[in-house]
Amino acid sequence: MVKKIIFLTAAVSLLIVTSCKKEKDDTNFNGAPYNPTPYSITIPAHFPQPIIPASNATTVEGVKLGRMLYYDPLLHPTNSMSCSSCHFQEFGFCTPTNEVMPHVNLIYSNNFLWNGMISGTLEDAMRFEVNDFFQADMSKFQNHPDYPRLFFEAFGSSTPTAENAAKALAQFFRTMISSDSKFDKFLRHQTVLTMEEAIGFNMFFTEKADCFHCHSIPLTSDYQLHNIGLDSVFNGVNVGHYANSGNPADLGKFRTPSLKNVALQSAFMHDNRFSTLEEVVEFYNSGVKHSPSLDPIMTKPGKENGLGLTAYDKYCLVQFLNTMTDTVFLNNPALSSPF
Ligand code: HEC
Ligand code: HEC
Repeated sequence: MVKKIIFLTAAVSLLIVTSCKKEKDDTNFNGAPYNPTPYSITIPAHFPQPIIPASNATTVEGVKLGRMLYYDPLLHPTNSMSCSSCHFQEFGFCTPTNEVMPHVNLIYSNNFLWNGMISGTLEDAMRFEVNDFFQADMSKFQNHPDYPRLFFEAFGSSTPTAENAAKALAQFFRTMISSDSKFDKFLRHQTVLTMEEAIGFNMFFTEKADCFHCHSIPLTSDYQLHNIGLDSVFNGVNVGHYANSGNPADLGKFRTPSLKNVALQSAFMHDNRFSTLEEVVEFYNSGVKHSPSLDPIMTKPGKENGLGLTAYDKYCLVQFLNTMTDTVFLNNPALSSPF
């Protein structure tokens, strides 16, 4: 009987504890109610409508928290780096000299990382970054003077979890929209291209250079996986999506990168094998290597012997790629460090 009473008291106090906690977490934090403000992402007129999962609606508070987490080394177990240590805003959120991938318009992507290791939502990509890549220790956030309140304001729970950190980061990523390059303004009829840029544009978006099948209008990426023929023998990182699937049809397949701000880079492709845009264009012109998994687009009729571009054609193509630089995005104060 005594045992039973103790058990009962324990159960009752547990009930009280959980209901108190519930009240604190779900309705208010130090008296302030949970009342997030919807954030409406401005989708440029010439962009498609993105799909945002209902389970992670974008809010002002969520984006604010995501931005802080992106720039805060606290997310790293030893506080030694933040996302921004490799993803620099002034270079489109990448490191221009190596294979760090830029963060631009990923609101449209369902495949992430060079070899497409993650397929799913931005939330899935952020779960990987927080849990697997950083192995974040979220207990550090619990003792922080501000984060429990910021997590509460964003998600209605003052307990910082890796799941909510990933959701907040995904919300911040959805605001990283680049749509103000000269190329974008041209698509919106707000500017004209020089003659060389226009010739490059026409080659890019016709069968002549045939870039648009994968680097599609207006996002400059289809966010799908392709083997573009960089190799015919596959080793190490060059196996591409095969590393995830074990399917020989995926050998050499990589996620098409956006070409926004690409002219700021000096290392191209998943393994940095090219250091100038001229080299990249020459690869597409004359360097495509054959293998069973090569994308059929690369050897379409008329392309069997390469693109046959003249020196002037190649010059114009590079001039056009230079129009992809978006200085508004690179300097957008809403995406910069909040610290
Ligand atoms: C030490 C440098 C470094 C740090 C720090 C870093 N990244 Fe990256 N990031 C990379 C590299 C390198 C790649 C490409 C890796 C690959 O595909 O194999 C990448 C790729 C990505 C991608 C894939 C983009 C795409 O287009 O598919 C995302 C998303 C990403 N990082 C998010 C983050 C987030 C969020 C953080 C912070 C939690 C972070 N990164 C911290 C180096 C870094
Ligand atoms: C069949 C799809 C496809 C076609 C066609 C295509 N690309 Fe690509 N592009 C990709 C993929 C996939 C990558 C990444 C490959 C890798 O890293 O292994 C890429 C990479 C690039 C890069 C390097 C970007 C970076 O951040 O490193 C540039 C520049 C580029 N392409 C420009 C072009 C141009 C110019 C054309 C037309 C001449 C073109 N592409 C045609 C799919 C394509």
